[in-house]
Amino acid sequence: MTRPNLQWLLASRPGGEPTPANFRLVTSSVPALKDGEVLVRHHYLSLDPYMRGRMNDGKNYAAPQPLDAVMIGGTVGEVIESQHDAFRVGDTVVGAGGWQQYSIVNVSQPGLLRKVDASRVPLSAYLGAVGMPGVTAWYGLTQIIEPKAGETVTVSAASGAVGGVVGQLAKARGCRAVGIAGGRDKCDVVVREFGFDACIDYKAHKNPASLQAALAAACPNGIDGHFENVGGVVLDAVMQQANAFARIAMCGMIAGYNGEPIPMAEPRLILTQRMKVQGFIISEHLPLWPQALAELGERVARGTLKYRETVAQGIESAPEAFIGLLKGRNLGKQLVKLA
Ligand SMILES: NC(=O)c1ccc[n+]([C@@H]2O[C@H](COP(=O)([O-])OP(=O)(O)OC[C@H]3O[C@@H](n4cnc5c(N)ncnc54)[C@H](OP(=O)(O)O)[C@@H]3O)[C@@H](O)[C@H]2O)c1
Repeated sequence: MTRPNLQWLLASRPGGEPTPANFRLVTSSVPALKDGEVLVRHHYLSLDPYMRGRMNDGKNYAAPQPLDAVMIGGTVGEVIESQHDAFRVGDTVVGAGGWQQYSIVNVSQPGLLRKVDASRVPLSAYLGAVGMPGVTAWYGLTQIIEPKAGETVTVSAASGAVGGVVGQLAKARGCRAVGIAGGRDKCDVVVREFGFDACIDYKAHKNPASLQAALAAACPNGIDGHFENVGGVVLDAVMQQANAFARIAMCGMIAGYNGEPIPMAEPRLILTQRMKVQGFIISEHLPLWPQALAELGERVARGTLKYRETVAQGIESAPEAFIGLLKGRNLGKQLVKLA
């Protein structure tokens, strides 16, 4: 019996904002398993901003997504067939199965598929707060910002998969946490659900001076640590309020992912405030993942780390949901539910 597998391929590279025409939906059939392989039925697909960079052909930290190949992406699901002793039918797993309903994984290669316990932590959270975005938040905060109790930590895209975790971990370390996010609804979630001390809706400020004044009011002792997800005017405003020896974790620059120029208004502040500004790519820090996942998993299981999800229904919805993510239509982790 052949099993049909709906898959999204990258059909063409976007010039600026991606459009549905950049993707092509095809149906293939799942082949028979070979020794060492397992078949995973995906329950959720993760949509992440980094995918936009991979759609380009230019210089980046990772190889481009090939044309006419299944779009890359993190997935969680269950093993439905196995030709390897270490995996059984029914195991819940996290991997990188891509934009498709099923994937075959050669698990004799270590690291491609990880079993996860979906009894204490919901399966979908392994793509968010207890997955790559959560580890990204943990790494940038604990290894670059290195917050001390009493300090002020700010984060942009604060309601998102990464940003929401950053502020909550900073609060848990005794800091004042201030978010910056797009819209009143997002800011309400950041303060009321995630427990940040304040959140600034950058869309309510029509000019940089107004945004800076709002940030200054929310950070009366200045900013000691900042987690940057966006770039542009938001980063400029933060830098104006930065204290001497502030640390900035450069995690993302989503305001420029479609090729928009995002110049830094006053780079001299790095010098005059003796700032540490450090970029990082989380896949290059694998030895620290277990430590990060242990803290994140424990906090989610106990209910002391909150998160939101925006869930698109069905594999067909993936391109539109991804385009929406790049426009800020998501609130929290953007997922596609497949099963
Ligand atoms: N360095 C690494 O290893 C690493 C790993 C994971 C993620 N990241 C980066 O972390 C950042 C957050 O990722 P995430 O998965 O947590 O995404 P997310 O915050 O859940 O979603 C993206 C958010 O970015 C904001 N945004 C989109 N376009 C924007 C624009 N033009 N200007 C300002 N804000 C915009 C929107 O929030 P608002 O409505 O609040 O603006 C949107 O909801 C991204 O930059 C991503 O590339 C980096």
